[in-house]
Amino acid sequence: MRLLPQLIENNRKWAASMVEKQPDFFERLAEKQTPELLWIGCADSRVPANQIVGMMPGEVFVHRNIANVVVHTDFNCLSVLEFAVAVLKVKHIIVCGHYGCGGVKAASENHHLGLIDNWLRHIRDVRQKHEAVLREVTDEKDRFDRLCELNVVEQAHNVCHTTVVQEAWANGQSLAVHGWIYRIQDGLLRDLSVTISGPGEIAEAYRVATGLHVRA
Ligand code: CO
Repeated sequence: MRLLPQLIENNRKWAASMVEKQPDFFERLAEKQTPELLWIGCADSRVPANQIVGMMPGEVFVHRNIANVVVHTDFNCLSVLEFAVAVLKVKHIIVCGHYGCGGVKAASENHHLGLIDNWLRHIRDVRQKHEAVLREVTDEKDRFDRLCELNVVEQAHNVCHTTVVQEAWANGQSLAVHGWIYRIQDGLLRDLSVTISGPGEIAEAYRVATGLHVRA
């Protein structure tokens, strides 16, 4: 692998350029992290959390998986969430999906791929739940876009219902959950207007974003 020595070389240059700009950058970073954001995004290599929002090391706590799914039994995701909220006291949780998501696409087709089908089942559930809305979208590409958006809304909704976030709100902690979507074609983010900063806002935000009524 000729690429790997190049990576180490790139790293040396990057570290040197950071020190040039701010001599104590790494020393200060080594003392502690104080990120205000938790980013839950897709593992897709084209959607790197820090870069697309212009944040430095130390500014975003990140969890990524295929299709930015938040499942109530996923202890990996829940552990990240708990550490970010209870220990780091982040102020914002951003669930960020993206158009053209391969995970969402795979879930909207009925091929069997193997182990991942079990993971994608969560997105198939989203598709099923919003079948009526999706059926009305006649253009296939628009329907795929809409499913990518609905997946973000559903996962943001799941974040709000975790014990971690519910407890934080019950304790009066300032914490807002957001649903964003990124378009790889133009590099731009869009806010899906599902910002929720307390348990009383869940149902209304969900209704507006999906057209469905739920009990909070
Ligand atoms: Co994706």
